[in-house]
Amino acid sequence: MNLILKGNICYNATPQTLRILEGGYLICEAGISKGAFAEIPEQYANLPVMDYGERLIIPGLCDIHVHAPQYAFRGLGMDLELLDWLNTYTFPEESKYSDLEYADKAYQFFVDDLKEGATTRAVVFGTIHNPATLLLMEKLEASGLITMVGKVNMDRNSPDILIEDSAVKSLADTEAWIRESMTRFKRTMPILTPRFTPTCSDALMDGLGRLQIKYKLPVQSHLSENHGEIAWVKELCPDAKCYGAAYDRHGLFGGAGVPTIMAHCVWSADMEEDLIEKNGVFVGHCPQSNMNLSSGIAPIRRFMNRGIRVGLGSDVAGGSQTSIFRAMSDAIQVSKLYWRLVEQKDAALTVPEAFYLGTRGGGSFFGKVGSFDSGYEFDALVMDDTDILSSKTLSVENRLERMIYLAGKDNVHAKYVKGKQVK
Ligand code: GUN
Ligand code: FE
Repeated sequence: MNLILKGNICYNATPQTLRILEGGYLICEAGISKGAFAEIPEQYANLPVMDYGERLIIPGLCDIHVHAPQYAFRGLGMDLELLDWLNTYTFPEESKYSDLEYADKAYQFFVDDLKEGATTRAVVFGTIHNPATLLLMEKLEASGLITMVGKVNMDRNSPDILIEDSAVKSLADTEAWIRESMTRFKRTMPILTPRFTPTCSDALMDGLGRLQIKYKLPVQSHLSENHGEIAWVKELCPDAKCYGAAYDRHGLFGGAGVPTIMAHCVWSADMEEDLIEKNGVFVGHCPQSNMNLSSGIAPIRRFMNRGIRVGLGSDVAGGSQTSIFRAMSDAIQVSKLYWRLVEQKDAALTVPEAFYLGTRGGGSFFGKVGSFDSGYEFDALVMDDTDILSSKTLSVENRLERMIYLAGKDNVHAKYVKGKQVK
């Protein structure tokens, strides 16, 4: 895992600017980046060099919100809003993961897709089922990607085919799953995953808060995605000052020692936004899902301006594509509509900003991830764009921009995750 990659290196110096090194060298020692250089520094002269020629070398992409069991119906059922979509398409599909044979086949398709594409890190929802979730974790571990995976909790307001018997049973299953997954895997970590407030009783949320403290686990869930959902949470939790507070009162909404991702935040009220900022909650921005389910447009420029942490999520199957390049271009495009139709103070996102969100923005949920600066974990993609033809002379920056709009998984020539080559 000590090696040097040579190629046209491109990563963010700041959220607004790129650092580009043509024909530069990336040094990786024991899975950690030692930096990007124009010449090989003296002390690394003995390391083997992989020369990738004219290809681009960029940080790996991070998908901080994706549902593995929904991969089977991506591209289907986009005619409904969230709550009807869950009941009509999502819950029936997720119920099938009580069958390990089905899970085996379905999860292999998902993991193969992620492995072949540009994603190096992912934060993943499973289902309520322990065996299937452990099987998913096994497959992700074998892929070489680094992921966090959640066994989902839901003990109320769910159909008979996809509901846990009680809070007590849900918590017992969750603890058994935590214990098993903490010892079994190196690159695959458990993350607490209450599906969202409507499907989790107070007793369940309380117990998850206790497990969070006991095992020091990160947390993921959904927040303020859709108007019907938000109105329902108000009914269910009349005492909570905002939807986010309904998680916070159980210790499941960021703050010291509780790294948390909340997907969507399309309609967060002012005080919810303040709480997100104060508690350092990560927003998982899922623009394609927000379009498909007619949810709306999250105010990402405003979030970024006030220092809220943001990463990108595919949210398959709310989103139809696993590609985080696609999430970048979607994020840019919806931000233009937001500026045009909603708020002229909030300028559209630029290409470097969208690239930042999909690399270091989301990567920082994993620690020092998403950059080639010295000390960052070495996640790198070697991108080959020779099949994306153009008669123009293109700069490295032009070529990166075209990757964001045009790349498919065939353009991923090689992929390294924490120094290990996985493709
Ligand atoms: N809210 C609760 N569950 C889900 C889900 O599976 N997908 C999305 N997009 N939102 C949710
Ligand atoms: Fe989701």
